[in-house]
Amino acid sequence: MAKRRSAFLLLATLLLASCAAPASTVPPAATTEKPTATAPAVTAVAAPSRTPSPDTGCPLRRGVNIGNCLEAPQEGAWGMKAQQEWFAAVAEAGFDHVRIPVAWSAHTGKELPYAIDEVFLKRVDEVVGWALDAGLAVVMNMHHFAEYCEDPAGQRERLFAIWEQLAEHYKGMPETVLFEPLNEPNGNADRTFNNDVAELIRIIRKTNPDRWIVVDGVHWANLQNIGSLRLPEGEKRLIASVHMYEPFQFTHQGASWAAGSGAWLGTTWEGTDKEKKFVDDLLDLAESTGKKLDVPVYVGEFGAYGMADFESRVLWTDYIARQCEQRGMSWAYWELYSGFGVYDSGRKKFYDKLLGALIPGEDH
Ligand code: BGC
Repeated sequence: MAKRRSAFLLLATLLLASCAAPASTVPPAATTEKPTATAPAVTAVAAPSRTPSPDTGCPLRRGVNIGNCLEAPQEGAWGMKAQQEWFAAVAEAGFDHVRIPVAWSAHTGKELPYAIDEVFLKRVDEVVGWALDAGLAVVMNMHHFAEYCEDPAGQRERLFAIWEQLAEHYKGMPETVLFEPLNEPNGNADRTFNNDVAELIRIIRKTNPDRWIVVDGVHWANLQNIGSLRLPEGEKRLIASVHMYEPFQFTHQGASWAAGSGAWLGTTWEGTDKEKKFVDDLLDLAESTGKKLDVPVYVGEFGAYGMADFESRVLWTDYIARQCEQRGMSWAYWELYSGFGVYDSGRKKFYDKLLGALIPGEDH
């Protein structure tokens, strides 16, 4: 499943993006291939109390992912580094939180005591601090821990040790910092993550008894699989998280890391009754599962790649965001800047129509 990016694909992406996407000049940097619409799915949510969502108690409402920066193997390897100015722009645009994907495992020793690199930790502190200074809540996750997904038995101790260190390090942070122990568990982790996350929650609770914790469901947090999410009984402040990229052939058309996606180019989304019903049913499932588990639901990623027709992206984005909100589910758009981006970092401007789809009724 690992993505193999060739120079050819990169070039093709750049050329096509320059024709099809609004002004984004940075290629996407995903490293995983996601399952298609028929594959299983996930869940998770978490939140602080600053901007409570009316129905769920979840303090997260509308957010955006700071993708392709700190979850690259080295920040900058995928063409960008987080910028302080982004966070004020995000807050001013009307978002209340950011989700910050972080490749902790790429900066952690491979042997006991699995120490996290201090220079990297300081860099993440800096970026989290910029978000908090801008008045944004932060969902900080563990992204791209492929070694655990391949070999859960061999990497479990490392996963636990990383979170023990992070929980200790961030225990003094305001409650508007949320922890998401693992982005998109998949592969062999599909069989282990429900148990392992229960242990992770116990570890985090030793130092962070009141921290909101966002839990992704197995099989890439796909919506279809949210029903297999298991959360420990009697635990407060948990959020179930799902990722919404359906229909996948629309959202991932032309994406170099999605096998066969070249053939999907030209797929539109027009908001027909049939198209709406397809996504409504998935979101209904997320809502009803959240009610069963008695936790808020967070759509921690959703977005359509810049190779898709722009008007379709706007329509789809608006529809998904509003449907989540009608179901009391919070969300974070994937992503601020890059292949799915809503913001052009070079021009320091949002794409107005896409931003209007996410945050309607503001003067963009
Ligand atoms: C991955 C990104 C990818 C996005 C959409 C994220 O979870 O980390 O690399 O671009 O999903 O596929």
